[in-house]
Formats: sequence, structure tokens, C-alpha cells
Amino acid sequence: MSARMIISRSNKAFMARALMRAEVRSFSALARVATRPAAPKAAMPSLVRGVKNIKFADDTETVHERADWPREKLHDYFKNDTFALIGYGSQGHGQGLNLRDNGLNVIVGVRKDGASWKAAIEDGWVPGKNLFSVDEAISKGTIVMNLLSDAAQSETWPHIKPQITKGKTLYFSHGFSPVFKDLTKVEVPKDVDVILVAPKGSGRTVRSLFKEGRGINSSYAVWQDVTGKAEEKAIAMAIAVGSGYIYQTTFEKEVHSDLYGERGALMGGIHGMFLAQYEVLRERGHSPSEAFNETVEEATQSLYPLIGKYGMDYMYDACSTTARRGALDWSPRFKDALKPVFNQLYDAVIDGSETKRSLEFNSQPDYRDKFEKELQEIRDLEIWRVGKEVRKLRPENN
Ligand SMILES: NC(=O)c1ccc[n+]([C@@H]2O[C@H](COP(=O)([O-])OP(=O)(O)OC[C@H]3O[C@@H](n4cnc5c(N)ncnc54)[C@H](OP(=O)(O)O)[C@@H]3O)[C@@H](O)[C@H]2O)c1
Repeated sequence: MSARMIISRSNKAFMARALMRAEVRSFSALARVATRPAAPKAAMPSLVRGVKNIKFADDTETVHERADWPREKLHDYFKNDTFALIGYGSQGHGQGLNLRDNGLNVIVGVRKDGASWKAAIEDGWVPGKNLFSVDEAISKGTIVMNLLSDAAQSETWPHIKPQITKGKTLYFSHGFSPVFKDLTKVEVPKDVDVILVAPKGSGRTVRSLFKEGRGINSSYAVWQDVTGKAEEKAIAMAIAVGSGYIYQTTFEKEVHSDLYGERGALMGGIHGMFLAQYEVLRERGHSPSEAFNETVEEATQSLYPLIGKYGMDYMYDACSTTARRGALDWSPRFKDALKPVFNQLYDAVIDGSETKRSLEFNSQPDYRDKFEKELQEIRDLEIWRVGKEVRKLRPENN
């Protein structure tokens, strides 16, 4: 039975409370938008809030917010800096445009006449003014943002390393290269600050949330602090590239959790679960549309957004008593079945096998073609062909 939304008397009260909370939330979100610069030359926010130590479960963590770093403070902090953003893929695009809109001095360095060079020109970067070859951009930059693909960071390191001279800062958006240095060979120079800002999402989202006046959450970390200012610089950079709120981490924890999460519940795990559920429904005689709706459409269109907005308990409470009872009973069985797989996955991340696999595959000259072939195989799966048809039926797509 599907998890239809049945609003009982008890959960009417619950929803009323949730709505009140939502109103409070949206009020504070509005207040924040009002303090956030809407356009490059907007008035500066007057509210400066302090660093927060927030108790998440039993651990107290340090969190910084955009309001801690109003634009005039960012301008002053980076007044002598040039951000040399190397690579213009997903993150380069998002972080670069946000830095530019924040009024900071940013230049892009990519291979001349490659796909990224063309994409950068389309986004308004001008050759010779703020768009250069990789080497030229590094020579002009004080903060070198290495946003090449992780495999390319390893491949180009022997050429790039000598250009990261004393006085510059080296920036990454993933702990991958320095943490797995035995495999990547990215041994950083000893005399520069090395920092990380890792947005928790695609570069496209880094950009779209910033444009909406919101901000992605990111983690920040320090690998090497030679100036004594590396941490503060990482925090300021996290805000400068468009984050709304940021958490402290280490390079190791960032790369381990990130590789684990994307292979698990964020991407690989959820795809595996969708496929398993869909296949069983089809093998047991259900129609394609029914199997798709009960596996993906209801999840993404109704239930997952509720979890995102108000939490898992709210989602349970917003569903029928029948759906709720079954889900509560089956959830521990799934957890028990899956936990060993998650442990295997974590081991494979920690021992470097996932890094090795990624470097080997993504360093092949024809990796894009091979990847495209795999995407085509996914597109061709019945479940996703059905999904394409189902999406067309949504009224907003008619
Ligand atoms: N994408 C995400 O969702 C995400 C999220 C958080 C963190 N990160 C991290 O951010 C960093 C950048 O990731 P990304 O996804 O933005 O990368 P990407 O989209 O794969 O971008 C690749 C860039 O690297 C350049 N490149 C590839 N091989 C090269 C080579 N041999 N020489 C010179 N340039 C080369 C490409 O230029 P051409 O066009 O010339 O090939 C392109 O500009 C990575 O460390 C990644 O782990 C990514």
C-alpha cells in the first residue's frame, strides 16, 4: 500500500506546530536574505553575528555563517589577493561566478581552447583580462584554487607544484589529492598554507543557491598552516565562494566521508535500492508505471522533500497509520542487511582502493567515452525509460 498522506486529528496538531515552526523558519530565512547582498554592488549587511558552538547530538561543533562575514569584511580581508581558479568544471563554474559576483578579484586558468575555455567565455570571462592559461593564472594568483578533476590534479601535479611558491595559498575542494598522496603523488610544498572548502553538493547547486539568496553548506579544513592564518582564510574563502553556513573538518575526515557518502546513500546505494525494489515489483507482475511510482516518483515528489524540510519523524507522521507501521517494522531489517555493505565500503575508502580505482579509471584518455557508455546503459534501463514518460505526465510539464 502506498504511503498516502492521511491527516488524522493528532497529526493535524502536529502539522499545525510544524507549520508554525516553518513560519518561524521562513521568517528568519527572509531576515537573512534581507541582510545578504542581492547583487554585486548591494548595500552591506549591517548584522554581524558571531561564531557558534552548536551541540549536534552529544558533540559540540563550530559553525560559521555568511552573516559572520559581510561583504565589506570579505573585501577588506582579501583586498591584496587574486584568486587563481584552476579548472572550470562544475565547481570552477559555481565558485568562480560566486567569487566574481561577490566583487572579489578572481581569474580563471584553463587549457586554451578546451571545453572549459569555451564554457568560461560563455560565462563572461575575458581572455587576457580574467581568463588565462593555467600557468599564467597561477603566476598572477596569490590563492591558487585547484579545481581540476581529482585525476587531473594528480596528472598535472609535477608541472604545477614548482609554481606554488612561498607566499601563495593552495586551496582544494576535496581532501583527495593530499590525503591519498601515496597514490596521487600530490606532495604539497612545505612553505605554503594549504586549505580546503568542500561544498556539500554539485557546483551547479553552489551557483543556483547563491543566486537565490540562499547558500550551500560546506565544510572547511586546514592541511598546513605556515602563516598562522590558514584557518581564518579557509573560513573567509568558504563564504566568498558562496557557502551559507560551514562546518569544521579535517582533510582526512572530509575525503573519507565524501567518498563513502556518494557511493552509499547519496548515489550508489540509493540507485541500488531503487533497482532492487523495481525489479521485484516487475517480476511479481506489476506494471512499469506502478513499479516506478511506488519506487521513485512518490519518493522524490512527496516523501523525500518532507524529510528534507522537516525530518524523518515528520514524514512518518504525515503518512497513513498502515504505511507508518510497516515502515517502522521494516526499517531495522534493511539497516541490518545493509550495514555490513556500508562497513565494506568504508574499509574500501580508508584503504585507498576507491581512490586507486577512481584514479585509474579517470586517467584513461577515453574515460569520458567509457563514462558516457555507462550513462547510456542507465538511460536504457527500463526503470529510467519509464521515469522519463512519467515525468512528462506531471502537470507542470504539460
Ligand atoms: N562536482 C562536484 O559535485 C564536487 C563537489 C564537491 C567537491 N568537488 C571537488 O572539486 C574539484 C573539481 O571537481 P569538478 O567536479 O568541478 O571537476 P570537473 O567538472 O571534472 O572539472 C574538470 C576540470 O579539469 C580540467 N582538466 C581535466 N583534465 C585536465 C588536464 N589534464 N589538464 C588541465 N585541465 C584538465 C577540465 O578542463 P577541460 O575542459 O579543458 O578538459 C575542467 O576544467 C575536485 O577536487 C572535486 O572532487 C566536486
